[in-house]
Amino acid sequence: MEIPAETFARDEFELARWRPADAPELVATVTGSLEHIGTWLIWATGGYSAADAAEFFRLTGKRWESGEAWEYAIRVAGSIAGGIGVLARDGGVEIGYWLADGFTGRGLITRAVELLTAEAFRLGAGYVEIKNDERNVRSGAVPARLGFTKVAEAPMEPPWAPSCAGTYHVWRLTPPCSAPAAP
Ligand SMILES: CC(C)(COP(=O)(O)OP(=O)(O)OC[C@H]1O[C@@H](n2cnc3c(N)ncnc32)[C@H](O)[C@@H]1OP(=O)(O)O)[C@@H](O)C(=O)NCCC(=O)NCCS
Repeated sequence: MEIPAETFARDEFELARWRPADAPELVATVTGSLEHIGTWLIWATGGYSAADAAEFFRLTGKRWESGEAWEYAIRVAGSIAGGIGVLARDGGVEIGYWLADGFTGRGLITRAVELLTAEAFRLGAGYVEIKNDERNVRSGAVPARLGFTKVAEAPMEPPWAPSCAGTYHVWRLTPPCSAPAAP
């Protein structure tokens, strides 16, 4: 797949490739949202320090350059509202996401996934996949809302976050068919 853009601007939010300068705000945002995301995301389960952020920025820079993953801050009125990443998979991509406290319930993730799904298809991805733990109903509602089909259940690699059951629901969407060629 070709490399997606580094920023996307919409009326209600912006997606911007993570930059090392975002580190202090990321630490503060995740730390302030631990009750909400730490139960679902293993990387936020034991707290989130400046060292964790430094390691994330080292890896996300590497992953962007290698084409392994393209990860974005979701910003609302300039502030970090969450994160979303597009991960390269064999023949397609997987999308993962989280929202900070105070930003749920207004369709931000659904719209950000919709945007990056369209972008992935435009750039040649053969499918977009989303995986949520079977207990994480709000996460699974995102692909369901966007017309993804649940195609499988699969065991999660341990360790998993405390609220998870350890079984993924796997959702998939394939690109719309292109119009048939004129006779
Ligand atoms: C998973 C997670 C990102 C979902 O957040 P969310 O707020 O439910 O998702 P959205 O931002 O798409 O918002 C959807 C809600 O906004 C509403 N909404 C309002 N305007 C909308 C619009 N234009 N489009 C879509 N939904 C809209 C929807 O009806 C839905 O409402 P509901 O909460 O009453 O069902 C959030 O719960 C989270 O951060 N969880 C912790 C981390 C996590 O689990 N990550 C995923 C791991 S698999």
